[in-house]
Amino acid sequence: MSTSVKAYRAAILHSLADPADVGVERSYAYFEDGLLLVEDGRVVQVGEAAALLPGLAGVEVVEYRDALITPGFIDTHIHYPQTGMVAAYGEQLLDWLNTYTFPTEARFADPAHAREVASLFLGELLRNGTTTALVFCSVHPQSVDAFFEAAQALDLRMIAGKVLMDRNAPDDLLDSAESGYAQSKALIERWHGKGRLHYAVTPRFAPTSTPEQLDLAGRLFHEYPDLYMHTHLSENLKEIEWVKALFPERSGYLDVYDHYRLIGPRAVFAHGVHLCDEECARLGDSGSAVAFCPTSNLFLGSGLFDLPKLQRHGVRVGLGTDIGAGTSFSQLQTLNEAYKVMQLQGKKLDPFQSLYLATLGGARALYLDQRIGNFEPGKDADFVVLDYRATPLLAYRLGQAKDLAEKLFALMLLGDDRAVKETFAAGRSVHRRD
Ligand code: GUN
Ligand code: ZN
Repeated sequence: MSTSVKAYRAAILHSLADPADVGVERSYAYFEDGLLLVEDGRVVQVGEAAALLPGLAGVEVVEYRDALITPGFIDTHIHYPQTGMVAAYGEQLLDWLNTYTFPTEARFADPAHAREVASLFLGELLRNGTTTALVFCSVHPQSVDAFFEAAQALDLRMIAGKVLMDRNAPDDLLDSAESGYAQSKALIERWHGKGRLHYAVTPRFAPTSTPEQLDLAGRLFHEYPDLYMHTHLSENLKEIEWVKALFPERSGYLDVYDHYRLIGPRAVFAHGVHLCDEECARLGDSGSAVAFCPTSNLFLGSGLFDLPKLQRHGVRVGLGTDIGAGTSFSQLQTLNEAYKVMQLQGKKLDPFQSLYLATLGGARALYLDQRIGNFEPGKDADFVVLDYRATPLLAYRLGQAKDLAEKLFALMLLGDDRAVKETFAAGRSVHRRD
């Protein structure tokens, strides 16, 4: 057997399907004493250790005690230039953008600054067990180069793009319809499909792009196979009123993107807090995805995301941390807040639905479920080792748990970066806590 074969032994849990489609019991596989077999960066097999070990003579087995292996987490919406402004006090979306976000993003004109933050940002993702993210860069092409260079060095599966923004922002952050198109095209040629990297055409949101820019963005989105489109949608009530005033000829916010051909498979809209049934249906029918960003929606006072409503319309939904409006890089903490968002609406979020959102559901939202999201043979070996004994409270609380669902729920509510013992990308260890 080749020397790149390795096996990892611990409790192992992964999603098989959406609990909303197949019911909770059929949505996951769990191996109490499991084994994950990895070769050349890919999953070969997963199952009970007792069943697999006899066939693996000579294979190195790495064993973790009091630990749970899950697929790497998938963050479907985050801004790397906003790493340094997390927890900016006191404003809702539009004032928050003007007061904090735009001055912070202006610093990314400097490639050295962009490289420093890209490296710190990726370190934070990995410390939190996130192995794939859909990432906003800044308006500067050099911010995208800095990000992809850092991601490539770690062989991560990452999606990112240059912000397109040609109005309603400070002059030093504006491109033009033509320069934004040309710069994005050059970045696509340089990075899209290189290793595990993918490019996303990234208009910030409808208010900061002219109709000409949205038109060119829509054209670009369809010019290359498998490109992504990444933007914001219906996050805040004042934002929605502004969009109506800027685009009076369109029937609503989503219709602006629809008109410019910015919807469909691999189009990902962050937030979608205030969508009507018609808009949800259009998102579902078109194969577009929405990123649920609970910590951000609470922090900016944007509103409560109605997950069951989007599910009813067949919309693909992933989980987003939305750093820096979001307040944690941790998908566990993001699920903690997601649960509370549901509670405030008299709804529940089952822990296995949460697991799905953070892994296979995110992969499906990104049309990457043939490559990542669970441990089906052949998928990328992106996985995380979670430590049941990360803190005294976690160890004690999990000791009281009667079944897997209770354990998983407590892990999500109490866990954070401290619970991530080790993170693997393409079979390589990329973060070790201690
Ligand atoms: N809408 C437009 N830009 C942004 C941003 O940077 N963060 C959030 N949360 N919403 C936005
Ligand atoms: Zn955002």
